[in-house]
Amino acid sequence: SSVSILPGPPTRVLQYAARLVKGPEGTLTNLPGSYLGPLIRLQKGQKVRIHFRNELAEPTIAHWHGMHVPALMDGHPMYAMDPGETFVYEFEVLNRASLNIYHPHPHELTGRQVYYGLAGGILVNDDEEAALGLPVGEYEIPIVLQDRRFDADNQLVYVRHMHEKMMGFHGDRILVNGRPDFTLEVASRAYRLRIMNGSNARIYKLGWDDGTPLTVLGTDGGLLETPEVKPYVMLAPGERLDVWADFSGRAVGSQLVMRSLPFSGALPMMARRMMGEMMHSALPPGSDYPLFTVRVSRGVSESPSLPRRLAKISRYTLADTANPDKPVPLEISEGPMSMLINRRPYAHDDLQPFERIPLGSVQLLEIFHGHGGSGHGEGGEGMAHGGGSGMGMHGGMGMGMMGHRGGMGMMGGHGGGMGMMMSMAHPIHLHGQSFQIVSRTVSNATMDDYASVRDGFVDSGWKDTVLAMPGERIRLIKPFQDFKGLFMYHCHNLEHEDMGMMREFSIE
Ligand code: C2O
Ligand code: CU
Ligand code: CU
Repeated sequence: SSVSILPGPPTRVLQYAARLVKGPEGTLTNLPGSYLGPLIRLQKGQKVRIHFRNELAEPTIAHWHGMHVPALMDGHPMYAMDPGETFVYEFEVLNRASLNIYHPHPHELTGRQVYYGLAGGILVNDDEEAALGLPVGEYEIPIVLQDRRFDADNQLVYVRHMHEKMMGFHGDRILVNGRPDFTLEVASRAYRLRIMNGSNARIYKLGWDDGTPLTVLGTDGGLLETPEVKPYVMLAPGERLDVWADFSGRAVGSQLVMRSLPFSGALPMMARRMMGEMMHSALPPGSDYPLFTVRVSRGVSESPSLPRRLAKISRYTLADTANPDKPVPLEISEGPMSMLINRRPYAHDDLQPFERIPLGSVQLLEIFHGHGGSGHGEGGEGMAHGGGSGMGMHGGMGMGMMGHRGGMGMMGGHGGGMGMMMSMAHPIHLHGQSFQIVSRTVSNATMDDYASVRDGFVDSGWKDTVLAMPGERIRLIKPFQDFKGLFMYHCHNLEHEDMGMMREFSIE
């Protein structure tokens, strides 16, 4: 189908069509004029049945990102359906109140299908949250951030060069809920913004343009214990953020802009330059650019106040885990023309011993940057050493173009100092139950980059996606309860996922 996104000819997109057969009023809300799938509202404890019919000309399957569902219902790529087939999903909503995502998951096609339009939000509500009296209805706003690139005929442009896959595809136009130049008209009162990074690869550093800090209510897996005030918040693909935005006291007619603020480390230095020069990008990742505008268009006198306590979260400790001394490794690395986890590109049923997880156990996991496959430089542990043998992300870029800090490479130095593609940021997503982040440590070599993002992590709540910056080592604790079977984990840079930075756990 096609939608009008920019002035001129309509843009061809892939769309989730929705037909509600039976369900409570308000279960599906279409975002007006958007290619995004309808917002699906679910209640904790509800039993859901969804008939999903593949009307594309290629395989697809839907995954319910963030939802804790049985393996058969999780949209594993092995269940990808041929054109014309139907998959009937049935699950009970076990999640607490949270904003989740549905999107396709066929191996090697996920990035493209999401890019061309297949994605939508799932808003889960529960009684605990309802009792808080947070802003609802027209005062609770879903904000899906995406970046796209259009050609002269308004048609979406996707990957044309290898480097766009290696770094992930970045558009040069920000869309909010599928619309460009998004302006939110608000009353002078408190709002709840339910923000989702639905981009394929772009990482945002969210901040208000007037320096107002962000008041964070929740993350991927729902509300925090108490609101947290942050100067800015990092939001990587697949992550969600629940923000209290209080416009009371602001003059009618005044405006506020949500920006992505400058930061470094998302991409290696060389790639950062390429984004500007070779990709003609008006929006280099990590630069400073506006995302959307808020305009106060009417005054009101009543506004809810921010609750002091939001939820009860019991924190796991190492003593709760089955493996306090031996974390399950998630070693991420960039191989030649591929992206790896635990040194392998995705292959179904290629389980390593530590990827077999006993059902009902709570596990300590550790994400770290490794050395990858053959022939390139030092990994994210980052003994700043520019060498490597440069595996040529774009033919002809040999090692002469790298070099380390103070080195001789003509592209100048990158603090992380690794080889060609080394040491970029990866948002790592784990299917199944949410997890808790225990610690983050970072190597000295990448400290400069890290300083530009470190105050923007919200690690106190439940997460299902975590941004691993270059040289960073992240420990997390995750329960593996209720369902046996194969569950994916992967980089949520969707081009990386499609290039193999994906594996599966077998819960047994
Ligand atoms: Cu949002 Cu396995 O993905
Ligand atoms: Cu998922
Ligand atoms: Cu990645």
